Amino acid sequence: MIVHISHAPAAVQRQLIDSLRIGQVPPKFLYDGERQTEKWLAVHRAHSPSRTDAGVQSIYDLAFDESLGQAAGESVCLVGLGCGGGQKDTRYLPRLKSVHPVIDYVPCDVSEAMVKVARKAAAAELPLERIHPLVCDLANAPDLGQLLDAIVSPQTKRVFTFFGMIPNFEPDVILPHLAATLRDGDLLLLSANLAPGDDYRRGVEAVLPQYDNAETCDWLLSFLEGLGVPRTAGQLRFGIEEVDGLLRIIADFDFVETHKSSVAGESVEFAAGHSLRLFFSYRHTEQILAKCLAKHCFDVVGSQIDFSGEEGVFRVKQA
Ligand SMILES: C[S@@+](CC[C@H](N)C(=O)[O-])C[C@H]1O[C@@H](n2cnc3c(N)ncnc32)[C@H](O)[C@@H]1O
Repeated sequence: MIVHISHAPAAVQRQLIDSLRIGQVPPKFLYDGERQTEKWLAVHRAHSPSRTDAGVQSIYDLAFDESLGQAAGESVCLVGLGCGGGQKDTRYLPRLKSVHPVIDYVPCDVSEAMVKVARKAAAAELPLERIHPLVCDLANAPDLGQLLDAIVSPQTKRVFTFFGMIPNFEPDVILPHLAATLRDGDLLLLSANLAPGDDYRRGVEAVLPQYDNAETCDWLLSFLEGLGVPRTAGQLRFGIEEVDGLLRIIADFDFVETHKSSVAGESVEFAAGHSLRLFFSYRHTEQILAKCLAKHCFDVVGSQIDFSGEEGVFRVKQA
């Protein structure tokens, strides 16, 4: 397993402490460690439409099938950016195997525990020597392209997946990184949570209740417990927020009593009456997503939208 410098423990701890002090938790911390990984995988199993809804599974399968055919007969490298437990990438592998003689797979995630789960899942489809686990903070790895070239020959055709990631990042932060990592001829498949219907805000309001469930609350509160904050110190509140014309679901923990935690030897105080932003997830419409991507020179060349209008898989190329 390769661990990129962006995951160096001292820098990661510093970022966590500084973020907690300004009342924000960067999403990557929610997935960090065995316990958080287990809790999130439980959320995914119970609530991810890609696991629970055959219609959503089918849009991934259609997008996979549509992506095949280019460079058939040549070797290919599948790079799963923010691979999570690797369920979607692993579903893609047999299809890639049907047209490419040699496949390498780079499961890449900021969570080492998650990368291990993805590696194990992919081992059902590929020999272990063709799986190259990579732990990396995608928002802090300007040399990711070079690193990938060192793992698999730069001549190899590459397919990137970026599933469920767009909601977790500020678009203007992650899309330039993505643009810098891809090179001519690379293919990118990404998925986004969409707001169903014609009215953007109403669409987001309609999906809000989906987030307030036992597994998601347990995942978020277990992160706080990991910091030594008891669940009784406050209350979790879900809502909708607008940022630069984009709507996102948020979850804040409102402290009803003051609590002091020790994080990596430093004291962090959470004052009664203050909130800690634990979670955000952007919802796009197809048009809004295409506009965000175009701003960073990405063109949508194919899309599959679920029947409910709540999830889409997009085939994207650099303009
Ligand atoms: C919503 S999950 C999506 C997982 C998977 N792609 C899927 O669709 O099932 C988000 C994933 O992104 C990872 N992640 C969050 N922030 C990250 C970052 N800054 N760099 C790399 N991975 C990150 C998390 O560890 C988690 O596995």
